[in-house]
Amino acid sequence: MTRPVRADINLQALRYNLSVARDKAAGSQVMAVVKADAYGHGLVPVAQALDEADAFAVVSLEEAVQLRDAGIRQDILLLEGVFSGQELSDSIDYDLQLVVHCEEQLRWLEALPGDRRRVVWVKVDTGMHRLGFEPQLAREVWQRIKRLSAAGRGGELRWMSHFCCADDPAHPATDEQLARFIDLTGADGAPRSMANSAALLTRADANFDWVRPGIMLYGASPMLPGTTGADVELRAVMSLRSRLIAVHRRRKGDMLGYGQSWKCPQDMPVGVVAIGYGDGYPRHAPSGTPVLVNGTQVPLAGRVSMDMICVDLRNAPQARVGDDVVLWGSGLSAEAVAEHAGTISYELFCGVTPRVPRIYTITD
Ligand SMILES: Cc1ncc(COP(=O)(O)O)c(C=O)c1O
Repeated sequence: MTRPVRADINLQALRYNLSVARDKAAGSQVMAVVKADAYGHGLVPVAQALDEADAFAVVSLEEAVQLRDAGIRQDILLLEGVFSGQELSDSIDYDLQLVVHCEEQLRWLEALPGDRRRVVWVKVDTGMHRLGFEPQLAREVWQRIKRLSAAGRGGELRWMSHFCCADDPAHPATDEQLARFIDLTGADGAPRSMANSAALLTRADANFDWVRPGIMLYGASPMLPGTTGADVELRAVMSLRSRLIAVHRRRKGDMLGYGQSWKCPQDMPVGVVAIGYGDGYPRHAPSGTPVLVNGTQVPLAGRVSMDMICVDLRNAPQARVGDDVVLWGSGLSAEAVAEHAGTISYELFCGVTPRVPRIYTITD
């Protein structure tokens, strides 16, 4: 490791956050959402640390195979199902559960020869209007898959849906979606799943048999901007860290970086940190975005470059080359940085690039 950039991943915090999900959804099984390389935290180490999860959810066969190859034995669900008929039989070889959300997937299932059983989650569009069958169609879909089971080719059937606005507790869509889901699925006693992190934390009535937390496991708040993970008892898992690689005394009126977008208002110290959009630090983070230098909050100054940023060190005049910098994580919430950058913590985490080594620790 030459450049001082790294993402420390605290596996103890991850496990703690899973225990929060378990406590909040007592009585439900927990399917940990580890797609997108576990939201940038590292798929296999995260799944191995979450050995107490009841199942995992991913979005591609490749992710699922990585988990199986690493010895993960829990159930694994392909959240978007398969993308071709060919993938179906591979998914069964790897003992994966499938979402079926559209007619094409249903036909692939019907065309698959053999009698290997599988768990199929019928996805219902209760209001997100992204994936899933409309509630009026969903019963017919259910019956078609049930007929396959009767012919020895189907598997266990389950219901699922996804919330569009659970991050806003005042939003009426959540009640509407819930009512549609209960209306459709209430009678048959089949396992059901609907809750993402936001619903899990705020809507006990949406937990059903399986909850599907993602972002809360990584310690960030799933709620609207303004709350952090710590506000909802979660612990940050990823700390994106680097160091100061230069400290300069600039003169009043000096302009910093590309586009000369920031002007020094006085003679002042300016630090250069080894982090940039090549590492996944958001290029659109504006001047003023908080950065921690030796535990002191200082503002980003000027444009984010590929490998560097400048910081205004007037609050930290003793700062020296080699000093620790936290971009988000320990002492500085990803949510606060995301809010400045006009994005969400999910995108910050997923955006950390492969050149940033993930360093796993099991400390508190
Ligand atoms: C279908 C589905 N379920 C659950 C989740 C987890 O959501 P969150 O990370 O907000 O908990 C996602 C994430 O996008 C999802 O697509």
